[in-house]
Amino acid sequence: MASLRLTLRSLGVSHRSCPRFPLSRITSNTFRGFATNLSPPSKAVVYEQQGPPDQVTRVIDLPPVELKANDVCVKMLAAPINPSDINRIEGVYPARPILPAIGGHEGVGEVYSVGSGVCNLSVGDWVIPSPPSFGTWQTYIVKEETVWHKIDKDVPMEYAATINVNPLTALRMLEDFVKLSPGDTIIQNGATSIVGQCVIQLARIQGVHSVNIIRDRVGSEEAKGKLKNLGADEVYTESQLEVKNIKSLLGDLPEPILGFNCVGGSAASLVLKLLRQGGTMVTYGGMSRKPVTVPTSAFIFKDLALRGFWLQKWTNSEKAKDCIPMIDHILTLVKNGKLKYEMELVPLEDFSTALDKALGKSGSHPKQVIRF
Ligand SMILES: NC(=O)c1ccc[n+]([C@@H]2O[C@H](COP(=O)([O-])OP(=O)(O)OC[C@H]3O[C@@H](n4cnc5c(N)ncnc54)[C@H](OP(=O)(O)O)[C@@H]3O)[C@@H](O)[C@H]2O)c1
Repeated sequence: MASLRLTLRSLGVSHRSCPRFPLSRITSNTFRGFATNLSPPSKAVVYEQQGPPDQVTRVIDLPPVELKANDVCVKMLAAPINPSDINRIEGVYPARPILPAIGGHEGVGEVYSVGSGVCNLSVGDWVIPSPPSFGTWQTYIVKEETVWHKIDKDVPMEYAATINVNPLTALRMLEDFVKLSPGDTIIQNGATSIVGQCVIQLARIQGVHSVNIIRDRVGSEEAKGKLKNLGADEVYTESQLEVKNIKSLLGDLPEPILGFNCVGGSAASLVLKLLRQGGTMVTYGGMSRKPVTVPTSAFIFKDLALRGFWLQKWTNSEKAKDCIPMIDHILTLVKNGKLKYEMELVPLEDFSTALDKALGKSGSHPKQVIRF
């Protein structure tokens, strides 16, 4: 029991928040005299063991947490359900929080109260955890001031909540592997993902063409239309690319110099097939959960380069010092209508429905963003 209490405390949750110490057992006398230093009680999506997210998560009430001098209490406004959140709960992600844990890794909130030593944030400010950090699926979070980055309030909350992971990944991948020039072409699978939608638009801003692959599924024609509206040059389903002279589908576009693999399996092979001599494929996701298989000829005759990208590694590197201006730049693109992507805001009460959609139980859905 002692270790469970310690673990919860390390999450910013007092031992009384343990489900085995329900809130109802705490008398109002417990907090008398400390009222100004306490967060309000919180609701949180927690998991005490790894496993299928729809089986191991539940929404519980957490009691108030005491603010220390440098702490900020943030009333969360919105937080997405990202594939990596699902993988963390499943226990298949390399970086995992200590259990029991609160779900979520990014989001936006409003400063609710501050500790006596907080200088740079005020009540009412909008903040995001930067770099992203554990435990955003809760109504109130108490963490040190240094965790939070203040942002302008002039973007919709669902964009502020999702700016930190996927758009930043798209931006970095377009910059960090191949020097792209206007007129170049990139190719990607998983183009309907938020990363994919951002890749299309950020490439277009640089004058770079995009060839996009989506999976065969109900509504694929509609999905193609949406991606073209974002600036995609070409959009194909995987089955459309199962032709002999695949390169004829590129029409007048130059052969792609850079490819992004979000999916793995046969969708990755399609990216490899369409890359030009000496091209580079960057793998950043494995949505099909199938391995990347590379034909020998891709190395010998095309000299393709295979690379990988992981934002978490990038944010722990020296380069991440520029992260804040990048986020502000991306938020400005959103504000100016130059970057948009599909999302669905869902109240916390409907968390299990949103989770089922994010798990793909009923086909394809836009990114689920929890509204608190
Ligand atoms: N390496 C990194 O640092 C990093 C950073 C950010 C994201 N990611 C990864 O990038 C990927 C996309 O993230 P996101 O948040 O942008 O995605 P998202 O918006 O949640 O969309 C999910 C995407 O996955 C596709 N998909 C779902 N199940 C699939 C399956 N079984 N086979 C093939 N495709 C499937 C969906 O296609 P439909 O539209 O057809 O349903 C959709 O394009 C994830 O793997 C995520 O973990 C990696």
